[in-house]
Formats: sequence, structure tokens, C-alpha cells
Amino acid sequence: MVRVMRKLRILITAGPTREPIDPVRFISNRSSGKMGFALAEAARKAGHDTILVSGPVSLPPPRGVRLTAVETADEMRRAVLREARHANLIIMAAAVADYTPAEPARQKIKKNAPTLRLLLRKTPDILQELGKRKTSAQTLVGFAAETSLVLPRARAKLIAKNLDFIVANRVGIPGSGFESTHNLATVLARDGRRFPFPRLTKRRLAGCLLTLFTKSM
Ligand code: CTP
Repeated sequence: MVRVMRKLRILITAGPTREPIDPVRFISNRSSGKMGFALAEAARKAGHDTILVSGPVSLPPPRGVRLTAVETADEMRRAVLREARHANLIIMAAAVADYTPAEPARQKIKKNAPTLRLLLRKTPDILQELGKRKTSAQTLVGFAAETSLVLPRARAKLIAKNLDFIVANRVGIPGSGFESTHNLATVLARDGRRFPFPRLTKRRLAGCLLTLFTKSM
């Protein structure tokens, strides 16, 4: 029997976001974008229509993938919500900043005072919004970067954000996670199944993850 693969529309986010403090400074995080870019590459290679929304990274755009470059969490939200309506599979691999300066300064802040307070406001949780709008035709995948209690915290996020899968990975250890070429991840499925992967390059892990997410679609 020949199994015909269904061509899917896959939306992937990648990289960090940058939240402006003033015209020359920002708050960000250590995400390199490698995991999201590797997922986009794997999706394109598997023949799917692939859209990548990425924060600022220093990676070449993958060939054959439609790339939207964004800076802030608000910009990422707008781009993602626009594309999500037409996507069958959405993978939020981006490390979206959780807080942004409440009132970014219009002019460069001068170092006059010995201390400086920044008031931060919570950014919109894009994945949670996607979970609320999810249709029966969509599979929604999140990532959980944790430094401790990795699996229970990841499961709590899977439930809270109404996801189908979550990729849990420990960060803050050498040789895996942020900025690394490798990743050590366990996928948790909504139905309780658990898929632990050995330490793999992000490229190989991306192929495995994509097969897992698209198998039942
Ligand atoms: N995420 C998002 N929008 C945000 C923050 C996070 O869409 N404003 C998404 C990330 O892309 C990731 C998932 O939510 O897929 C989990 O992100 P993570 O930073 O691990 O968890 P948070 O929900 O932000 O919670 P906390 O930082 O308290 O662990």
C-alpha cells in the first residue's frame, strides 16, 4: 500500500524577541533560533508549505520557506495570528520575552543617576491565544524551557495553553538548549504519552519532531 503524504501548511516561530528600552538598548534572551530554523528546514524538505516567523537571529533564511522577520513580542503576535488562521500545524519554538519595558524612552537614556529602575509589563502570551482559538483542524505545539522540574512544569503548560504536544527541554546546562547545536528533549503529548529523545543535533531532532507531530495528521 502506498501512503500518500498530505501537504500541510506549517507555521513555525523561532529566535528571541527584542524589547526596546530606548532607541539603542533592548531586553532579550539567549535564543539562537537554531531549533526553529531546523524545524522549518525539515518541514520544507518533507514537502510542506512552510512559514517561519522569526525574531532577530544571525542565521541564513532557509530556502523555500516564507520568512517574516519581527523584533518585539507584539510584532510576533501580530504576524503569528495573521498566519495561524491558515495553518494546520503551528510550532512555537520562539523564546518570546515575557516582559517588555512599559514605556520605552524616546531618547537615549543618559547615565546621570547612580541607579536606574525599569518598569516592565507582561507581553501577550501568543501560544495561549492560539490555544484558545485552536480549531479541530489544527495541531498546536509549544516548547518549555525549564531549569528545574522540567516535565511537571511542561505538562502544566501543555494543559494551561491547550496544546497537543510540548517539547520540554532543560536549559542552563552546557551542551543542550539555548545557543547550543544540540538539544536534549522530551515530548509530552496531550493524551499522556511521553517521547524521550537522546541528545541529538537540533537538525536531527527537528526531523524526529516533525515526523512525530505530522504522523497522525
Ligand atoms: N510563549 C508565547 N508568548 C509568550 C511567552 C511564551 O507564545 N509571551 C510560548 C513560547 O514560544 C513557548 C511556550 O510559550 O512555546 C512556553 O514558553 P516558556 O518561556 O517556557 O514559558 P512561559 O509560558 O513564558 O512561562 P515561564 O516563563 O513562567 O516558565
